[in-house]
Amino acid sequence: MSEKTERYELLKQQAQALLTGQFDLVANMSNLASLIFNELPQLNGTSFYRFKNDELILGPFQGKPACMHIAVGKGVCGTVAATKKPEVVPNVHEFSGHIACDSASNSEVVVPIFKDGKFWGVLDLDSPEYNTFDDVDASYLSEIAPIVFGVQAEIGGRA
Ligand code: SME
Repeated sequence: MSEKTERYELLKQQAQALLTGQFDLVANMSNLASLIFNELPQLNGTSFYRFKNDELILGPFQGKPACMHIAVGKGVCGTVAATKKPEVVPNVHEFSGHIACDSASNSEVVVPIFKDGKFWGVLDLDSPEYNTFDDVDASYLSEIAPIVFGVQAEIGGRA
């Protein structure tokens, strides 16, 4: 298992433990953004955006103040809202239409979040380094982001 995979496996367990029995979305987005921001290396931003009134609107995040409204199709987040597919951007300066909230950002990964099969929003991670993210990040973050909806506590113990 690579160091990155190990870190994500641990992060997934931490997220599940943190949000077991917790179902308030603002509280959950806040704590998950903080957990990711503090546990993963090389980040300068971790942001939730919800899809509301046909646009993305900023949710709880960590990092510098961020853009509050993003239109579908605009920037990396808006592209993900349009395609519903993760985007791994090794160099944001080469991504046409990239929205620079923090001028320190040089690479980015954005994953879509679905609730009950419907597009619900995105999770956006920014890094001040180039080439920080790859498909491993996109895949784990796609699994970890929906933990924001909470984890049902097990009723009873194991047999
Ligand atoms: N860079 C993003 C905007 C969001 S901020 O980075 C938090 C984009 O191009 O969609």
